[in-house]
Amino acid sequence: MLTDAHHRIIDYVRLSVTDRCNLRCTYCMPENMHFVQRDTLLTDNEILQLLQTLAAAGISKIRITGGEPFLRPGLMTLLENIKAIPGIKEIAITTNGVLTQSYIPALRQLGITHINLSLDTLQAGRFLQITRRNRFSAVMDTLQSLLQHNMQVKINAVVMDQVNTDELAAFTALTRDNALSVRFIEEMPFNGQGHTFSGIEWNYHKILASIAETYPLEKIADPPHSTSLNYHIPGHKGNIGVIPAYSRTFCGTCNRLRISATGSMKTCLYGNDVLNVKEILRDGSPQQLLPAIQSAIHARFANGFEAEAHHTEKTMESMSVIGG
Ligand code: GTP
Ligand code: 5AD
Ligand code: SF4
Repeated sequence: MLTDAHHRIIDYVRLSVTDRCNLRCTYCMPENMHFVQRDTLLTDNEILQLLQTLAAAGISKIRITGGEPFLRPGLMTLLENIKAIPGIKEIAITTNGVLTQSYIPALRQLGITHINLSLDTLQAGRFLQITRRNRFSAVMDTLQSLLQHNMQVKINAVVMDQVNTDELAAFTALTRDNALSVRFIEEMPFNGQGHTFSGIEWNYHKILASIAETYPLEKIADPPHSTSLNYHIPGHKGNIGVIPAYSRTFCGTCNRLRISATGSMKTCLYGNDVLNVKEILRDGSPQQLLPAIQSAIHARFANGFEAEAHHTEKTMESMSVIGG
């Protein structure tokens, strides 16, 4: 069992399988984003070796992130091999939905049913503005298809002042006839553009108050370690949630490790890279892996605000590098 100095159990790994993306969301990266050389990415074998080590130490949930995970060649084979690791009970994926649709039957067959879909607007023109790419219909087709295949879908919508705050009710309306969760995320400073981030106008209180003007919200129980505060609207099939990603209300129960596509490990989203697992694996000293991870976890901060003080380049870093 992996535990930190604050008695938090770590049983969840967020693994980025590529930093590349086929969208260019303005809150995440610049148009001319520089992606890393492919040979600096963890190979499939390195990922499997890492996850075997982590699973033997008690990690049971893996979330696959990117960039856009489906841009990694051979992702389905990698998922199949991860699925076979003893101790891994759940594999979930966060995707932008552009390429996802054709993989849905195969994902289902593998028993991968938890899909978080990034979608910040329900308007085609605005989608182009936010993502700088004209792929709205592909993403909406993926959403339909996920629901038809009874996948457990969470839509992630980043709430941006003066960009999409007029769509909170329209997103909430999706939960009336569809058994999905729409989660509104506070914007974070990980935009890869280096410009200063002066805080957010739309925090989770304001998001909830805005939705409550149109819909009655009933608080429901949140799953353990949830990032979202979840609500039900009477008569609706689905739920809504808010993720206080900037306000960081959930650090006390944080159970996550993050591994970037190049093998950098973070013990907090707002913290620095604390270890490079690829260097350990490529140096041919895999027996050092677990002790190094354990000691990084032990040095973990109590919360993201503490970590942030140590994180000097946060506005430079893109979420596509961190993996969300
Ligand atoms: P599940 O609980 O596994 O469904 O996933 P999730 O909601 O954590 O994952 P997802 O990839 O859908 O991320 C949703 C949003 O929550 C993203 O903006 C993430 O960056 C943010 N998020 C996830 N984990 C953390 C965390 O540890 N701290 C903070 N501040 N934000 C997080
Ligand atoms: N602030 C908040 N959420 C972000 N994401 C990417 N960049 C940011 C940001 N700057 C979200 C994506 C995706 C999830 C993994 O992280 O929309 O759904
Ligand atoms: Fe790509 Fe996700 Fe970043 Fe958007 S938020 S540019 S979909 S990695």
